[in-house]
Amino acid sequence: MPLVTLAGVLQPALREHYAVGGLVCLGWEDARAYVRAAEAEGLPVILQAGPSCRKHTPLPILGAMFRQLAEAASVPVVVHLDHGYTFEECREALDSGFTSLMYDGSRHPLAQNIEETARVAELAHAAGISCEGEIGFVGYAEGEESRGTDPGDAARFARETQVDAMAISVGNVHLQQNREGGLDEDRIRAIEAVTDVPLVIHGGSGVPWAQRAHLARTSAICKFNVGTELRMEFGRALRAALTEDPDRFDRVQILSAVEAPIEAAARAALRTLAPNGGPA
Ligand code: 13P
Repeated sequence: MPLVTLAGVLQPALREHYAVGGLVCLGWEDARAYVRAAEAEGLPVILQAGPSCRKHTPLPILGAMFRQLAEAASVPVVVHLDHGYTFEECREALDSGFTSLMYDGSRHPLAQNIEETARVAELAHAAGISCEGEIGFVGYAEGEESRGTDPGDAARFARETQVDAMAISVGNVHLQQNREGGLDEDRIRAIEAVTDVPLVIHGGSGVPWAQRAHLARTSAICKFNVGTELRMEFGRALRAALTEDPDRFDRVQILSAVEAPIEAAARAALRTLAPNGGPA
C-alpha cells in the first residue's frame, strides 16, 4: 500500500541524495493533480494540509480524501499535517488518518518548543507515524521576520524531541512570489554537521530552482515545501478557463480545466528535487 509515513520517504531520500516535495494542497483537484504528477515522474510525494486548507475543510474530510488518493497511487504518498499549532489539532489529524504531524512551536521560546514538539513526536511514534518540528523561525513575505536557526539549538532540538524531520530557517521565507531569494549554504552545512535528522525547507517557492536541485542532491535537506508557485499556477489556469468560455458555469467542468496545468507545474517542481533531476 503506497500510503507511507514521512520517515518512510525521507530516510531513503537522505541515504540516496534527493529530496521529496511537500506540496501544499487546498482541495481535491490540486491533491489529485499532485499525485498524478508524482506518478508520472515516478517519485514519492507529500500531500500537505496547512492552516488555510483546514480552515476551509475539516481535517477528517481532508484525511479521508488524501488517504483515498494515497491508497490508489502507484508511488509512496505521505498524508501530512502542516503547521499544527496545538497538541489537540495534531491528535485530530492522527485520528483523521494522517501519517505525519508537523508541530510548529517555532514562535515559542526554545525550551517550550522542545517540550511541546517532543510531546507530539511521542504521540506520533506511539501510533507508528512521523513528526516534523521547526527550530528557528521561517518568516513570511510582507509579514513576520525570520529568525535564523542556530546550529547548537538545532542539535539540542533534534536530540531532545526525537523528531523525524526538522524544518530550519536559513534564508527561506514563506509565500514568496518570485525565486530571487537564496539559502545560506554555510548555515545549512553547520546544521547538518551536528545532526542526522533530515532537514526541511519551508517556503520552497522562493528558492531558485538551481539551488533547490543542488541542495537536494548534496545536503541533508530531504523535503522542500512548495505552495505559492503551484497556487499561482492554479489561479492563472482558473482565470484562463473562465475567460476562454464565458458561458461555462459548471464547477466540475471549470475545475477540471485546471488539473492538467497544475499537474504540469507540480511535475516540474518535483523534478527539481529528484535523484537525477535539475531545473526544468
Ligand atoms: P511557499 O508557499 O512559500 O512555497 O511555502 C510553502 C510552505 O512552506 C508550507 O509550509
